[in-house]
Amino acid sequence: MKIGILTGGGDCPGLNAVIRAVTRKAINNNDTVLGIRYGWKGLLESNFIKLDLDSISGILPRGGTILGTSRTNPYKKENGPAIAKENFNKLGLSALVAIGGEDTLGVASKLYKDYKLPIVGVPKTIDNDLSATDFTFGFDTAVNIATECIDRLHTTAESHNRVIVVEVMGRHAGWIATYAGIAGGADFILIPEVPIDVDEVCEAIKRRRERNKLFSIIVVAEGAVFKDKLSTKEEKLDEFGHVRLGGIGEALAKIIEEKTGFETRSVVLGHIQRGGSPTAFDRVLGTRFGIKAYDLIKEKKFGRMVSLRGQDIVDVSLEEATRELKTVDLNLYESAKTFFK
Ligand code: F6P
Repeated sequence: MKIGILTGGGDCPGLNAVIRAVTRKAINNNDTVLGIRYGWKGLLESNFIKLDLDSISGILPRGGTILGTSRTNPYKKENGPAIAKENFNKLGLSALVAIGGEDTLGVASKLYKDYKLPIVGVPKTIDNDLSATDFTFGFDTAVNIATECIDRLHTTAESHNRVIVVEVMGRHAGWIATYAGIAGGADFILIPEVPIDVDEVCEAIKRRRERNKLFSIIVVAEGAVFKDKLSTKEEKLDEFGHVRLGGIGEALAKIIEEKTGFETRSVVLGHIQRGGSPTAFDRVLGTRFGIKAYDLIKEKKFGRMVSLRGQDIVDVSLEEATRELKTVDLNLYESAKTFFK
């Protein structure tokens, strides 16, 4: 077999673990692997490299993706889907492994549906917002980085009696904020799933002051919105129709300082959460996903996505996986609220 593999959308730690696992398993079985460069863009331009044992050596602990990535959407290009299919055939591919989030896998799902292209999907994203899998790889690393940052911000906030608002990524789901907020002992966690009530946040900060806790750490997800709908979003959209988020932390810090009179600073963790070496959890998950993706190809089970269910790696339909965003379980958020008092 000749297997193509591509990584699309925002990068995340663990992508190289998947590329390595697919390639190693394929080479063990005397198959050939082509790495398509820069996501769907590479398929539209026939931009690829041959992956062999040398090219994947030493990549397991490396962040990012050795193949490069882009947010190119073939369905937004003239004849894009047809060109993708034509190039797939010209390259002589037997199957394609698409590693991505809702956008990349949404394209994979459509190409499978429209052209019966033999594709299997692998779910990645620091946002953990893909349905039909308990976790995506990249999320655990992002949470660990954010938690370490919150720990560091704690000591400086305490030394200066400051409120620090920490803005984390996650797009329209508050998974990173909730997990890192709980792990980092945040005094308030704000997520897109629950509109921000500024007065409630200020009251919690004041109650802490009364208990002689003169500092507070507030974790806010970039996609969180104020109850009164004050928006910080830019209107420019990418090819998948997403706005660029960011700015809520700064806006919130300003309001908290005005309302409480306490010195308040904001910190945006941004792409630090996406960079660097994957955690052991993400390396193992990426590796298991990669091996399962190869197995699905061998069994000719296309239009499927590998998924983690409990301790098991299973497969689900790409259509089901990309149908709707997985938002934060409100029972989990309820547990986090115990510490907002
Ligand atoms: O989807 C991953 C993610 O990091 C989001 O959390 C964030 O909103 C977005 O990508 C940022 O995208 P970019 O790197 O293109 O600015």
